[in-house]
Parts: sequence; C-alpha cells; structure tokens
Amino acid sequence: MEAEEATDGRFRVRQEVNRGPGASQGLDSAHMAIERLVSPAADPAAREDQPNWSLRPTRLHEYIGQHDLIQRLNITIAAVRARKGEPLEHILLHGPPGLGKTTLAHVIGAEMASKVYATSGPALTRGTDLVSALTRLETGDILFIDEIHRLPVAVEEFIYPAMEDYRIDVPVDSGLHARTVQIQLKPFTLIGATTRAGLISSPLRSRFGLTHNLRYYDPAELLTILTRSAGLLNVPTDGPGARGGPALELIAARSRGTPRIANRLLRRVRDFVQVKADGVIRAKLVEQALALEGVDALGLDELDRTYLRIISSTYSGGPVGLEAVAATMNQDAGTLEDVVEPYLLQIGFLARTRRGRMLTKAAADHLGLPAPTPLNESNALLE
Ligand code: ADE
Repeated sequence: MEAEEATDGRFRVRQEVNRGPGASQGLDSAHMAIERLVSPAADPAAREDQPNWSLRPTRLHEYIGQHDLIQRLNITIAAVRARKGEPLEHILLHGPPGLGKTTLAHVIGAEMASKVYATSGPALTRGTDLVSALTRLETGDILFIDEIHRLPVAVEEFIYPAMEDYRIDVPVDSGLHARTVQIQLKPFTLIGATTRAGLISSPLRSRFGLTHNLRYYDPAELLTILTRSAGLLNVPTDGPGARGGPALELIAARSRGTPRIANRLLRRVRDFVQVKADGVIRAKLVEQALALEGVDALGLDELDRTYLRIISSTYSGGPVGLEAVAATMNQDAGTLEDVVEPYLLQIGFLARTRRGRMLTKAAADHLGLPAPTPLNESNALLE
C-alpha cells in the first residue's frame, strides 16, 4: 500500500488499488475511545482488522448479501463499461459501520479496473486538501471519501463543481483582486460513505447518481461469510463441508448483523481452539471462547450490559436522557449513541421516546432485570 502525506500532515490520501486501506483516517477519537470486540467501527481494532482484508471479497460475484445493491451495481458497471470512456456516476453508500462500504468501494474499483484513492471527511480540513486529492486523479479513477458527512463546509463547496463538471474553482487573491482560477479535472468517480445519511446536505446528496442504504446482514448471510472466511483462513470447523455447521452458526448469531464483527469473532475463536483444543472450531468451544470475551448469546458485551443495567437500576428502566446515562457510566454520550445504542435499538432492547431512553421488556428478560413500566401514549416512540 502506498501512503502519501502532505508536509503539513493535514491531508493524507492513500493509493489502495484493490488492496484496502486498513484503518480509515481522521476518526474522532472521542467517538472511538472504546475498544470492544463487538465494535463495528474499524478504528478501535485497526491493527487487528488488517488481516480482515484477506477475508474481504474483491469482486462483485464474491460479495455475499446486499443483493439489491449488488444487482444495481452489476447493471450500472456493465452499462458504463459497454459505453467505454465514460466514468461511473458518483455513488453514496450509507449505513451502520462494518457492513462493507469501504470494501464495496474497492470492489467497484476492481470491477471498473480503476485505481481507488481513499481518504475521509475529517482528513480533508481545507479546500486545498481536496484540490490536491482531485488533481491527482486520472480518468476513471475513484476517490473514496469515508465519513463524508464530516466534510467541512468550506471543502464541501469545492466538491460541487468537481462532481458536476469535473472542475474546481480555486480562489486566488482577496478583496479587490479576488478572482478564481478554474482547474479542469479528469472525469472521475466519487464514492462517499457515511453512517449518518441525515447529516449530508441536500446539495451534496443530490449530486450522487446512485445512493444506497446498506442493511444489517441476516444470520444466513453471515454464516455464508463465515464459512468462506473459515475456508480462507484454513480453519476446520465441525460443519458438514460447505455450510460451516453449528459452530459457525453460533458465531453468526453473535455478530450483530455485521461481517466485520463476524470475522473478528472467528479469529478470536480460532486462537482459542488452537491453544485450548485441537484447532477444530466446535460449538462448545465457540461458547467458551466467546464467554471468555464477554460476548453473550445475542452478541452483547459488557458495555451493552452495563448500559442496560444502569438504565434499569439507576433510572428505574427509564425514560432517561442519554447524557444522564453517559455521566453515570463515565462515558462519552456520542460514543454511546454511535457504538452502543444502534444495535440495542435494532434488536428491540432499547426504545427512544420523547422523554428519553427506555429499557424494553425483551432487554429486561434477557438480562434478568425487573420488567420496565410499559410505554403509554404520552411518551410514544420518537424515532
Ligand atoms: N467478508 C466480509 N464481508 C463480506 C461479504 N459481504 N461477502 C463476502 N465476504 C465478506
């Protein structure tokens, strides 16, 4: 992987031609302070996620899940390739972390036989950062901007003419002598990724030709991914050949609908069975390995359980404001919102009401906590 860094250290764009970027840059450290085995974000375990690249699909036909998106991409790519010389339209991928947005950018690059340059919204602090990223692109190259919702407004304005007319208007001089110099760019494709589609301005969003929301993977898809990964890692499982078997099913069930987590759990279990047993992944050993890691049958870890227990015990099941829970836990509210709550909401363990967060009966049952008072109409669900 080639790495390039501007002398001021503020802009980095790396050339990753179908090999993958490892950790994304510029992630907000406050939001990424918690290291968890079940964290869907790439950053906390960036080093550990490096081997993950070998497990990721490199071409569309290898990609498991996200069927609608894969179908749309197959059609668009085939059409553009047939027309020759035309770049792919700009693509916006949104959805929770760990579902494959970065992987897809590299897969698209491979399908288009294009180079992929990756950067992130927070790494592009000034307009000139973007200018240097864009001016190095050759015809058909792909610029992947992760966390595009965190692109500063000043940078975002440069991107509009770049996306629309492959042109950047660079201001020179100021006051009376102010003028802009136009720089012509080679036709390129921007792939933007975000976990917060709602934070993208509508002028930016409207400039993407293809927009797609990635959804959580179902257990069967995760099992297929894990079966493929176990094959690539050469780890034997108790499963009958191609289908992975009960051991991988257990891992799939605890992976929070997220391939990145599934592959991470698989590697932990692989280590465990290698050291504690004969190297074959079996259901009983998966239970033991994941219990040791604090991951329960639904994929919840200690942080999730502490969060839910605090709402139950300190705040009588809620409703309670996020800030209050965060203060009790001595955690950052943004981190809880980004890395703990989405999955709890997804599995129906948490309700967000007008008056605050509430534990649900399902969560109380799972953790053996007192049943919360049911919601009434005055605090009906907000989101
Ligand atoms: N590895 C991680 N995500 C994958 C996916 N969606 N398909 C195949 N392999 C994967």
